[in-house]
Amino acid sequence: MKSFPKNFYWGAATASYQVEGWNENTDWAQAARDGKVPPAGRLADHYHRYEEDFDIAKELGHNAHRFSIEWARIEPEEGKWDFAEIEHYRAVLKALRARNIEPFVTLWHFTLPQWFAKRGGFERADAPQVFARYCAFVAKELGDLCTHFSTMNEPNVYASNGWLRGSWPPFKRFAATDFVSITNSGRTYESRANRGIRPLFLYRRVLRNLARAHNEAYTLIKASQPNLDVGVVKHVIYFHANWNPYNMLRAWVANRMWTHVYMRRVRHTIDSIGLNYYFHKKFGDRAEYDKTDMDWDIYPEGIYGSLKLLTRYRKPIFISEAGLADRTDTRRAAYITEQIRATKRALDDGIDVRGHMYWSLIDNYEWALGTQKCFGLVAINYDTLERTIRPSAWVYKDIIDANGIPDSGGK
Ligand code: BGC
Repeated sequence: MKSFPKNFYWGAATASYQVEGWNENTDWAQAARDGKVPPAGRLADHYHRYEEDFDIAKELGHNAHRFSIEWARIEPEEGKWDFAEIEHYRAVLKALRARNIEPFVTLWHFTLPQWFAKRGGFERADAPQVFARYCAFVAKELGDLCTHFSTMNEPNVYASNGWLRGSWPPFKRFAATDFVSITNSGRTYESRANRGIRPLFLYRRVLRNLARAHNEAYTLIKASQPNLDVGVVKHVIYFHANWNPYNMLRAWVANRMWTHVYMRRVRHTIDSIGLNYYFHKKFGDRAEYDKTDMDWDIYPEGIYGSLKLLTRYRKPIFISEAGLADRTDTRRAAYITEQIRATKRALDDGIDVRGHMYWSLIDNYEWALGTQKCFGLVAINYDTLERTIRPSAWVYKDIIDANGIPDSGGK
């Protein structure tokens, strides 16, 4: 059967810092002021133009939309709530509801309020409680307008970029060799202090605290609003292997480290799972793959393997992100089609997939890479703020309208 289930959610996703503009009270904005990451500034000005963007989503046939709340707007100082910002996000939710688009809210998507980052962020032992208090507050204020909440986006990506690679705030880098030449390294004291072996231990602590933070938030939210659907958004890399048993073992270990260690810690405190899929890695594979503008393999069918990895948690799965950077829009339509074909295969095999949200609705700030990478179904002209629907968005619409890949093949 070609059709997807009735009531399947089709849409796209965004995240506050990447599209809203002027989120100056965050650790990322501070890092930009320090010259460590590109400045964000106004970006697509989605904060003021969300209605226009939702009109486009509607025109493109979407019936679901995932977005995130900027913690620094809601709690600009510790323990102080900004009710005007709550009203803003209530208006955003109402704008989606008015268009019959089901909202999926992520409570935290990478950027932290400055006060929280300054006091140690997720390294701190009390971070889970502080985070849970914020999540419960937002869920209480928005829970009448939205059913689907995720506490956090991609804990593993956040922790590894911040504490192993050192490319994102707080820029701590696991680098064992630094011990050798520390005296004459010529690096500043600060960067030396943030390198070495200690970040590895901090990384493990942060990951543990993130799982605890989710668990605390889940418990607090559900205590007052048991009917809300509360989950996490998990970045899954699909590690697989050729025939070689050694490579199979490597894939097994990698899947365990990247996906299952965190998931096992939260498995009893999730109603659903958001899957973000971008990568696969096949051990023992010599194949050459075409690349996206991020230089990532074009391997949309790997979403099947990622979905399969999550089945053991026995929860409904929403594809909360999957997509590619493709400025010329020459590969996006085929990519989306193949990704959806693989998702259908998962459904046919009994995997409980409830929705597909392409990343991203509009072009956005791709973190340490700035605005050069174009993931959007809709292009943004950052000078004029003009929105232009890319041709692939119409191919996605054909799939949505047909509730499956149409006979013409969808591309
Ligand atoms: C993140 C997004 C990011 C996208 C593409 C995901 O890991 O949630 O914020 O823009 O990947 O890199």
